[in-house]
Amino acid sequence: MTTNTVSILRIDSSMRQHGSVSRDLANVTVARLRAELADPEIVWRDLKSGVGHVNSAWRDASLGAAAARSAEDRALLAQSDALSSEVDRADIIVFAVPIYNFSIPAALKAWIDMVCRNNVDGATAIGKTDAHRYKHAIVILTSNHTRAGADDEFATGFMRFILRFIGCNDIDMVDATGLANDKEGILRAANCQIDAICQTVARRNLSAAAE
Ligand SMILES: Cc1cc2nc3c(=O)[nH]c(=O)nc-3n(C[C@H](O)[C@H](O)[C@H](O)COP(=O)(O)O)c2cc1C
Repeated sequence: MTTNTVSILRIDSSMRQHGSVSRDLANVTVARLRAELADPEIVWRDLKSGVGHVNSAWRDASLGAAAARSAEDRALLAQSDALSSEVDRADIIVFAVPIYNFSIPAALKAWIDMVCRNNVDGATAIGKTDAHRYKHAIVILTSNHTRAGADDEFATGFMRFILRFIGCNDIDMVDATGLANDKEGILRAANCQIDAICQTVARRNLSAAAE
C-alpha cells in the first residue's frame, strides 16, 4: 500500500439497486475505510447496467501490438482499458458479490474478462501479483441459502484464484451467505468481519506511513 493517498475501488455486481444486501455491506465497508484512512480516493464501478462481453473482434484487437492498433481496435478495447486502469490504480478493491446460481453474477465475470486482457489466449495462466505493490481485495459474499465453502458454492474459490491472478496480495472474504436462515445474525457477524478487516487495513496503513 502506498503511503500517499490510498485508492479504493468499489465494484458492485448485484442487479438490485434497492434492498441489496451486498450493496449495504459495501456501503458499510467503504464508509469504515473512509473513516480509518486519511482522505482516500474512492472510485465506484457499478456493474448493474452490464459490461461489454468479449468477442472475436475484441480478441483480435487485444492480441495485436498496441502501437499497431487501428482506431476501431482502440474503440473495441476502450472499456477494457478503462476498467484495467481502475484496477491498476487501486490499493484496495471492495467487491460486493451476491451468489447467482452457485457462482458469481455474469456481470462480474464479464468485468473479469475485460480486466484479464493478457490472458486472452490463455497463455498467461500465471499470477500477476507484484510483491512490491501491495493490493488488497475485500470480497463481500451474500446469498440466501448457498453457504460459503459448501460443495455447491463456486464463488469463493474462483474469486480467490482470479484476484491473485489480477495481482491482489491479500484477499479477505466477508461471509454474509445463508441470509434466509438468520438474516440478523448473519449481518451482525458480517459487520464484525468488516470491522476487523478495516482495523487491520488501518494498522497496516499506519505502519506503512511510519516506514
Ligand atoms: C439470478 C439469481 C440467482 C441466485 N442464485 C442463488 C443461489 O444459487 N443460491 C442462493 O443461496 N441464493 C441465490 N440467489 C439469491 C441471492 O444470492 C441473494 O438474494 C443475495 O443476497 C442477493 O444479493 P443482493 O441482496 O445484494 O442483491 C440468486 C439470486 C438471483 C437474482
